[in-house]
Amino acid sequence: VKRVRTHHLREMKERGERFTMLTAYEQYAAQTFDEAGIDVLLVGDSASNNVFGNETSLPVTVDELIPLARAVTRSARRALVVADLPFGSYQASPEQAYLTAVRFMKEAGAHAVKLEGGVEMAPQVRKLVEGGIPVMAHIGFTPQSEHTLGGYRVQGRGEAAKRVLEEARAMEDAGAFAVVMEMVPGDVAAEVTASLAIPTIGIGAGADCDGQVLVWQDAFGLRTAKMPRFVKQYADLHGVLLAAAQEYAADVKAGTFPGPEHTF
Ligand code: KIV
Ligand code: NA
Repeated sequence: VKRVRTHHLREMKERGERFTMLTAYEQYAAQTFDEAGIDVLLVGDSASNNVFGNETSLPVTVDELIPLARAVTRSARRALVVADLPFGSYQASPEQAYLTAVRFMKEAGAHAVKLEGGVEMAPQVRKLVEGGIPVMAHIGFTPQSEHTLGGYRVQGRGEAAKRVLEEARAMEDAGAFAVVMEMVPGDVAAEVTASLAIPTIGIGAGADCDGQVLVWQDAFGLRTAKMPRFVKQYADLHGVLLAAAQEYAADVKAGTFPGPEHTF
């Protein structure tokens, strides 16, 4: 199988072909999604709340994310693997961003990194790209800025639509190879997608983006909390795991597992 590269995503946009991205934080999810033909695997800082048990993405550290990214790059044969730069690991300066991104490329074998922010992160994006690191941008609602943005809110309604387009343009001009748009009105995301040469990837940004991304624990029903409206639930993994664990416990208590066939 041929590795998905950043230029393939751009070529898919040019052909009008949609592509897919899912989060992945470890071996089996990465292998399974890769086998399913998912084009991009994101080792998201959403690992903070989906792996490490935090309430937000803010606490997760570079040292915590690198081993997860390493597991995903070892496990995916075809997908492009993108690693999120966590909160506080790139905002201070382009140099800080570069040193952090280099760790993900060298220690984890990531193929690209993602960072949040628009116009104000252009120097960071430029520095990384000049230093040989492909960058995926993330605009609209950016969870690392939850406390500045005042909670989980749609970005780019009304007058603010112009701002989303400016952010997207700034990221393209700085050299980003793609831009994630989170919680942006569908018509705004469509306009951004039409006016950029690089692909857009939507999450809560309607059907007209070039690609789509979801957090897999949300989409496949491992997480049971109330979901945002943009999530479609494709499976009930919580239900499957719960039933399996309960059946195992019942078997052990009843003495029906292990049976003779499991015994040496
Ligand atoms: O960390 C993450 O899961 C993300 C996606 C939702 C885009 O940034
Ligand atoms: Na993220």
